[in-house]
Amino acid sequence: MSREKNNTKPIAVFDSGVGGLTVAAAIKRLLPNESIIYLGDLLHLPYGSKSTEAIIEFTDIAVDFLVNQDIKLLTIACNTSTSVALDFIRSKVEIPVVGVIRPGAEAAVRATQNNRIGVIGTKRTIESDAYKKEIEKVSAQTNRKIEVYQKATPLLVPLIEEGWKDHFVTELVLREYLNYFEDKKIDTLVLGCTHYPLIKNTIGSLMHDVKVVDSAETTSLKVKELLVKKKLLSEEEADYNYSIYLTDYTDTFGELAKLIIGNGKNEINDKINIISLEFSRGKSSYNLI
Ligand code: DGL
Repeated sequence: MSREKNNTKPIAVFDSGVGGLTVAAAIKRLLPNESIIYLGDLLHLPYGSKSTEAIIEFTDIAVDFLVNQDIKLLTIACNTSTSVALDFIRSKVEIPVVGVIRPGAEAAVRATQNNRIGVIGTKRTIESDAYKKEIEKVSAQTNRKIEVYQKATPLLVPLIEEGWKDHFVTELVLREYLNYFEDKKIDTLVLGCTHYPLIKNTIGSLMHDVKVVDSAETTSLKVKELLVKKKLLSEEEADYNYSIYLTDYTDTFGELAKLIIGNGKNEINDKINIISLEFSRGKSSYNLI
């Protein structure tokens, strides 16, 4: 499908699962005229504990699918994919690509007053040091020296996927993880994973006097900035709000999609298409199931 006017082409949002819908929703709130194509690679979730090579390959093939939908901008909402695959993706596609790490790092540097920032994320995101490096780059622009303390919190994604957002077990696990920051004197904590905004209230209640930064809002601002700069903003009403593609379906996705982008209604599930992406190095294809 190829559209004549670039401005009315959709924006794509990619994530390994459901959490990227928080980014999609923030984009839609800010830019209601934009149509959004969402791809969640549920078949390979969680990315956070996979190898760098596997994450790059999964992201690559998912991006191929999205670029084939004639999109005008790609948002990689997955922190893990952004951490390890953003540069590679930028080097191969011609459209603008927005990742979530830089906007989150900028927001954290703006928020901290004592120059001590904490970051939580998946194993792969934390091991990549992507947030630490980006925070250091951003703070160097104003000659600030910021200490970054990072903690991998791998049990949180499965707990949220289980639907245990407001569950005492999730709170217990969070207490154990966040204990790491007790003597670090941070005043800002970055939620370096798409799923964590869904438990932001619990995190906030356990981290007194700490500003909690999630990158959904800041990423949507970056998307707007780029669309304005490239003169790609849509001035017409969106063709559709969301078109959703998944490589697998789970009830958790359906429930959370209702909550995040569906106004609590089941109709959002009618927007979901299940696809199969062929994952073999160097080649990709897909089938609607
Ligand atoms: N989307 C991933 C992220 O933001 C979390 C889920 C996963 O591990 O795939 O890092």
